[in-house]
Amino acid sequence: MRRKLVAGNWKMHGMKGDLPQVAEIAAAARANPDVDVALCVPFTLIEAAAGVGAGLPIGAQDLHENDKGAHTGCISAAMLTEIGATLTIVGHSERRGDQHETSHDAWAKSAAAHRGGLKVILCCGETDAERDAGRAERIVQSQIEKSLPDGASGDWLTIAYEPRWAIGTGKTPTLEDIAAIHAIARAKLRQMVGDAADGIRILYGGSVTGANAAAILAVDNVDGALVGGASLTAEKFVPIIEAAASLRQG
Ligand code: 13P
Repeated sequence: MRRKLVAGNWKMHGMKGDLPQVAEIAAAARANPDVDVALCVPFTLIEAAAGVGAGLPIGAQDLHENDKGAHTGCISAAMLTEIGATLTIVGHSERRGDQHETSHDAWAKSAAAHRGGLKVILCCGETDAERDAGRAERIVQSQIEKSLPDGASGDWLTIAYEPRWAIGTGKTPTLEDIAAIHAIARAKLRQMVGDAADGIRILYGGSVTGANAAAILAVDNVDGALVGGASLTAEKFVPIIEAAASLRQG
Protein backbone atom coordinates (compact mmCIF):
# COMPACT_ATOMS: atom_id res chain seq x y z
CA MET A 1 0.00 0.00 0.00
CA ARG A 2 1.47 3.33 -1.05
CA ARG A 3 1.08 6.16 1.47
CA LYS A 4 -0.43 9.31 0.05
CA LEU A 5 1.96 12.23 -0.43
CA VAL A 6 0.68 15.80 -0.52
CA ALA A 7 3.48 18.09 -1.71
CA GLY A 8 3.34 21.86 -2.09
CA ASN A 9 5.26 23.79 -4.72
CA TRP A 10 5.56 27.46 -3.83
CA LYS A 11 7.24 28.31 -7.17
CA MET A 12 8.51 31.94 -7.08
CA HIS A 13 6.39 32.86 -4.09
CA GLY A 14 7.31 33.16 -0.44
CA MET A 15 9.27 35.59 1.70
CA LYS A 16 10.38 35.38 5.33
CA GLY A 17 7.04 36.88 6.29
CA ASP A 18 5.40 33.68 5.04
CA LEU A 19 7.26 31.41 7.46
CA PRO A 20 4.29 31.24 9.85
CA GLN A 21 2.44 29.47 7.01
CA VAL A 22 5.20 26.85 6.93
CA ALA A 23 4.89 26.35 10.67
CA GLU A 24 1.11 25.91 10.39
CA ILE A 25 1.47 23.45 7.51
CA ALA A 26 4.04 21.50 9.56
CA ALA A 27 1.60 21.36 12.46
CA ALA A 28 -1.06 19.94 10.12
CA ALA A 29 1.44 17.37 8.85
CA ARG A 30 2.17 16.26 12.42
CA ALA A 31 -1.57 16.08 13.13
CA ASN A 32 -2.11 13.77 10.12
CA PRO A 33 0.60 11.12 10.49
CA ASP A 34 -1.03 8.72 8.01
CA VAL A 35 -0.23 11.12 5.16
CA ASP A 36 3.20 12.24 3.95
CA VAL A 37 3.46 16.00 3.46
CA ALA A 38 6.31 18.01 1.92
CA LEU A 39 6.82 21.62 0.87
CA CYS A 40 9.09 22.84 -1.93
CA VAL A 41 9.96 26.49 -1.37
CA PRO A 42 12.27 28.96 -3.13
CA PHE A 43 16.00 28.38 -2.48
CA THR A 44 16.10 31.49 -0.32
CA LEU A 45 13.58 30.08 2.15
CA ILE A 46 14.81 26.48 2.47
CA GLU A 47 16.99 26.95 5.54
CA ALA A 48 14.47 29.06 7.44
CA ALA A 49 11.55 26.79 6.44
CA ALA A 50 13.46 23.73 7.64
CA GLY A 51 13.97 25.61 10.92
CA VAL A 52 10.30 26.35 11.57
CA GLY A 53 8.77 23.27 9.94
CA ALA A 54 9.62 20.49 12.38
CA GLY A 55 8.55 17.16 10.90
CA LEU A 56 7.82 18.69 7.49
CA PRO A 57 10.28 17.72 4.73
CA ILE A 58 11.40 20.87 2.91
CA GLY A 59 12.43 20.67 -0.72
CA ALA A 60 13.83 22.68 -3.61
CA GLN A 61 12.23 23.13 -7.03
CA ASP A 62 15.29 22.51 -9.19
CA LEU A 63 19.04 21.83 -9.03
CA HIS A 64 22.03 21.54 -11.37
CA GLU A 65 22.93 18.20 -12.90
CA ASN A 66 26.61 18.53 -11.88
CA ASP A 67 27.93 18.20 -8.34
CA LYS A 68 29.99 21.40 -8.57
CA GLY A 69 31.74 23.59 -11.14
CA ALA A 70 31.65 26.77 -13.21
CA HIS A 71 27.88 27.14 -13.53
CA THR A 72 26.98 30.71 -12.70
CA GLY A 73 23.70 31.09 -10.88
CA CYS A 74 23.15 27.37 -10.37
CA ILE A 75 22.82 25.26 -7.24
CA SER A 76 23.97 21.72 -6.42
CA ALA A 77 22.43 18.86 -4.48
CA ALA A 78 25.09 19.21 -1.77
CA MET A 79 24.29 22.92 -1.34
CA LEU A 80 20.63 22.03 -0.92
CA THR A 81 21.16 19.25 1.60
CA GLU A 82 23.54 21.45 3.59
CA ILE A 83 20.75 23.96 4.25
CA GLY A 84 18.17 21.34 5.15
CA ALA A 85 16.46 20.30 1.90
CA THR A 86 15.58 16.61 1.76
CA LEU A 87 13.91 16.54 -1.65
CA THR A 88 13.61 18.42 -4.91
CA ILE A 89 11.22 18.76 -7.80
CA VAL A 90 12.80 18.01 -11.21
CA GLY A 91 11.51 18.58 -14.74
CA HIS A 92 8.56 20.80 -13.81
CA SER A 93 6.68 21.90 -16.90
CA GLU A 94 7.38 25.55 -16.11
CA ARG A 95 11.09 24.77 -16.38
CA ARG A 96 10.51 22.71 -19.53
CA GLY A 97 8.65 25.70 -20.96
CA ASP A 98 10.47 28.76 -19.57
CA GLN A 99 14.01 27.31 -19.42
CA HIS A 100 13.65 24.88 -22.33
CA GLU A 101 14.57 21.90 -20.17
CA THR A 102 14.26 18.48 -21.80
CA SER A 103 13.51 15.03 -20.46
CA HIS A 104 17.23 14.32 -20.79
CA ASP A 105 17.93 17.28 -18.46
CA ALA A 106 15.36 15.89 -16.03
CA TRP A 107 17.08 12.52 -16.17
CA ALA A 108 20.50 14.04 -15.40
CA LYS A 109 19.12 16.26 -12.63
CA SER A 110 17.24 13.36 -11.02
CA ALA A 111 20.44 11.31 -10.99
CA ALA A 112 22.37 14.24 -9.46
CA ALA A 113 19.75 14.70 -6.77
CA HIS A 114 19.82 11.00 -5.88
CA ARG A 115 23.63 11.00 -5.83
CA GLY A 116 23.51 13.92 -3.45
CA GLY A 117 21.00 12.31 -1.09
CA LEU A 118 17.84 14.16 -2.14
CA LYS A 119 14.50 12.53 -2.85
CA VAL A 120 13.02 13.45 -6.21
CA ILE A 121 9.60 14.43 -7.53
CA LEU A 122 10.00 13.94 -11.27
CA CYS A 123 7.35 15.76 -13.34
CA CYS A 124 5.76 14.91 -16.65
CA GLY A 125 2.67 16.10 -18.51
CA GLU A 126 1.35 17.13 -21.88
CA THR A 127 0.49 20.57 -23.25
CA ASP A 128 -3.02 21.47 -24.37
CA ALA A 129 -2.00 21.17 -28.02
CA GLU A 130 -0.61 17.70 -27.38
CA ARG A 131 -3.83 16.65 -25.60
CA ASP A 132 -5.98 18.09 -28.40
CA ALA A 133 -3.93 16.09 -30.89
CA GLY A 134 -4.64 12.90 -28.92
CA ARG A 135 -0.99 12.54 -27.92
CA ALA A 136 -1.22 12.93 -24.11
CA GLU A 137 -0.59 9.27 -23.34
CA ARG A 138 2.34 8.97 -25.71
CA ILE A 139 3.92 12.19 -24.40
CA VAL A 140 3.78 10.99 -20.80
CA GLN A 141 5.16 7.57 -21.72
CA SER A 142 8.01 9.17 -23.65
CA GLN A 143 8.83 11.67 -20.90
CA ILE A 144 9.01 8.88 -18.31
CA GLU A 145 11.08 6.71 -20.63
CA LYS A 146 13.60 9.48 -21.24
CA SER A 147 13.80 10.94 -17.74
CA LEU A 148 13.55 7.98 -15.35
CA PRO A 149 16.94 7.68 -13.61
CA ASP A 150 18.80 4.40 -13.07
CA GLY A 151 17.86 2.51 -9.95
CA ALA A 152 14.51 4.27 -9.67
CA SER A 153 12.62 3.10 -6.62
CA GLY A 154 9.84 4.37 -4.42
CA ASP A 155 12.34 4.88 -1.60
CA TRP A 156 13.53 8.07 -3.26
CA LEU A 157 11.55 8.71 -6.43
CA THR A 158 8.02 9.99 -6.98
CA ILE A 159 6.45 10.80 -10.35
CA ALA A 160 4.09 13.78 -10.71
CA TYR A 161 1.69 13.92 -13.64
CA GLU A 162 0.88 17.57 -14.27
CA PRO A 163 -0.90 18.39 -17.53
CA ARG A 164 0.45 21.83 -18.40
CA TRP A 165 -2.95 23.17 -19.37
CA ALA A 166 -4.29 22.36 -15.89
CA ILE A 167 -1.58 24.26 -14.01
CA GLY A 168 -2.86 27.45 -12.43
CA THR A 169 -5.90 27.53 -14.72
CA GLY A 170 -8.65 26.12 -12.49
CA LYS A 171 -9.15 23.42 -15.15
CA THR A 172 -8.61 19.75 -14.38
CA PRO A 173 -8.88 16.64 -16.52
CA THR A 174 -11.87 14.40 -15.87
CA LEU A 175 -11.32 11.72 -13.23
CA GLU A 176 -11.42 9.16 -16.08
CA ASP A 177 -8.65 11.01 -17.93
CA ILE A 178 -6.55 11.19 -14.77
CA ALA A 179 -7.08 7.45 -14.20
CA ALA A 180 -6.11 6.68 -17.80
CA ILE A 181 -2.83 8.61 -17.68
CA HIS A 182 -1.88 7.28 -14.25
CA ALA A 183 -2.51 3.72 -15.45
CA ILE A 184 -0.32 4.37 -18.50
CA ALA A 185 2.41 5.84 -16.28
CA ARG A 186 2.24 2.83 -13.93
CA ALA A 187 2.49 0.45 -16.87
CA LYS A 188 5.51 2.32 -18.26
CA LEU A 189 7.21 2.20 -14.84
CA ARG A 190 6.48 -1.52 -14.61
CA GLN A 191 7.99 -2.08 -18.04
CA MET A 192 11.13 -0.16 -16.99
CA VAL A 193 11.72 -1.25 -13.37
CA GLY A 194 9.50 -4.32 -12.89
CA ASP A 195 8.00 -4.88 -9.46
CA ALA A 196 9.72 -1.76 -8.10
CA ALA A 197 7.03 0.17 -9.99
CA ASP A 198 4.53 -0.83 -7.31
CA GLY A 199 6.41 1.25 -4.75
CA ILE A 200 6.74 4.43 -6.85
CA ARG A 201 4.10 7.03 -6.06
CA ILE A 202 2.42 8.88 -8.92
CA LEU A 203 1.02 12.26 -7.89
CA TYR A 204 -1.50 14.31 -9.80
CA GLY A 205 -0.87 18.06 -10.09
CA GLY A 206 -2.78 20.93 -11.72
CA SER A 207 -5.46 23.07 -10.03
CA VAL A 208 -5.84 20.79 -7.01
CA THR A 209 -7.86 22.50 -4.26
CA GLY A 210 -9.58 21.56 -1.03
CA ALA A 211 -12.79 21.24 -3.06
CA ASN A 212 -11.58 18.66 -5.61
CA ALA A 213 -8.79 16.87 -3.68
CA ALA A 214 -10.86 14.05 -2.18
CA ALA A 215 -12.27 13.02 -5.58
CA ILE A 216 -8.89 13.21 -7.34
CA LEU A 217 -7.01 11.43 -4.57
CA ALA A 218 -9.52 8.56 -4.67
CA VAL A 219 -8.70 7.77 -8.32
CA ASP A 220 -6.81 4.51 -8.95
CA ASN A 221 -3.05 4.98 -9.06
CA VAL A 222 -3.26 8.55 -7.74
CA ASP A 223 -0.91 8.41 -4.77
CA GLY A 224 -1.06 12.05 -3.81
CA ALA A 225 -1.03 15.58 -5.15
CA LEU A 226 1.51 18.20 -6.18
CA VAL A 227 -0.10 21.52 -5.34
CA GLY A 228 0.86 25.01 -6.49
CA GLY A 229 -1.45 27.92 -5.72
CA ALA A 230 -3.41 26.15 -3.01
CA SER A 231 -0.21 25.33 -1.08
CA LEU A 232 0.70 28.98 -0.46
CA THR A 233 -1.38 29.31 2.69
CA ALA A 234 -2.18 26.84 5.44
CA GLU A 235 -5.83 27.81 5.09
CA LYS A 236 -5.95 26.39 1.56
CA PHE A 237 -3.35 23.62 1.87
CA VAL A 238 -4.45 21.95 5.11
CA PRO A 239 -7.86 20.85 3.70
CA ILE A 240 -5.98 18.97 0.96
CA ILE A 241 -3.84 17.20 3.59
CA GLU A 242 -7.01 16.38 5.51
CA ALA A 243 -8.72 15.07 2.38
CA ALA A 244 -5.81 12.65 1.88
CA ALA A 245 -5.98 11.65 5.54
CA SER A 246 -9.71 10.95 5.42
CA LEU A 247 -9.25 8.69 2.39
CA ARG A 248 -6.49 6.86 4.13
CA GLN A 249 -8.79 6.17 7.06
CA GLY A 250 -11.87 5.52 4.96
P1 13P B 1 -1.46 24.77 -9.43
O1 13P B 1 -1.86 23.90 -8.26
O2 13P B 1 -1.33 26.23 -9.05
O3 13P B 1 -2.28 24.53 -10.63
O4 13P B 1 0.05 24.34 -9.81
C1 13P B 1 0.34 23.00 -9.97
C2 13P B 1 1.81 22.86 -10.08
O5 13P B 1 2.41 23.25 -11.06
C3 13P B 1 2.52 22.24 -8.96
O6 13P B 1 3.82 21.93 -9.30
